[in-house]
Amino acid sequence: MIKIAPSVLSADFSKLGYQVEELQKYGADIIHLDVMDGRFVPNITFGPPIIKSIRKYSTLPFDVHLMIEEPGRYIEDFVKAGADILTVHYEADRHIDRTINYIKSFGIKAAVALNPGTPVKNIENLIPYLDMVLIMSVNPGFGGQKFISYASSKIQEVKNLSNELNPNLLIEVDGGVDIENIKQVVDCGANVIVAGSAVFKHNKIEENIKNLKRGL
Ligand code: DX5
Ligand code: ZN
Repeated sequence: MIKIAPSVLSADFSKLGYQVEELQKYGADIIHLDVMDGRFVPNITFGPPIIKSIRKYSTLPFDVHLMIEEPGRYIEDFVKAGADILTVHYEADRHIDRTINYIKSFGIKAAVALNPGTPVKNIENLIPYLDMVLIMSVNPGFGGQKFISYASSKIQEVKNLSNELNPNLLIEVDGGVDIENIKQVVDCGANVIVAGSAVFKHNKIEENIKNLKRGL
């Protein structure tokens, strides 16, 4: 089953709890939360206290995308804040294997994200141990960017490795996904679809999620 994971990066932060409630009501499957530190990426968003404060507004899984340097330092804080899936960037961690095992030791799902320029083969050894791989289809840091077309072949590469090494692997795509290209990324093998601007566009969450699902 294909899951829609709206990113709250495009939400109205002054009423984040309410927006998360709306996402669940209108058919989201997962809540995607973009944590940025102003170092790994140029932008700064929010951390564990904000995630903890909105946790009670939804029963959906919280998929926390850590765009921060040395994410291993903060794993426990995000677990306590209510993360169900923790994604760390391959490029941000010198000891990615250790961090993956550490995340899994808390009994939650562990994922690795790859920037557009990072080859899939870099994480081939990790695939059997991961719950999810996140293929970035824009350079991380901002919502509303254009989908980078070569991300599609990277999704296919992950799908092939998943067939061989880990059939239950979730394959998430993040960045520039909209009703025009959602079918294409799903056909390549993605099964968790992040969408920020495509979900919050014109503040019509219900209609936008319906349209994305119709486009599958
Ligand atoms: C970008 C974030 C994305 C972003 C996606 O760094 O990781 O999750 O919110 O936004 P759209 O769907 O607008 O590209
Ligand atoms: Zn993200």
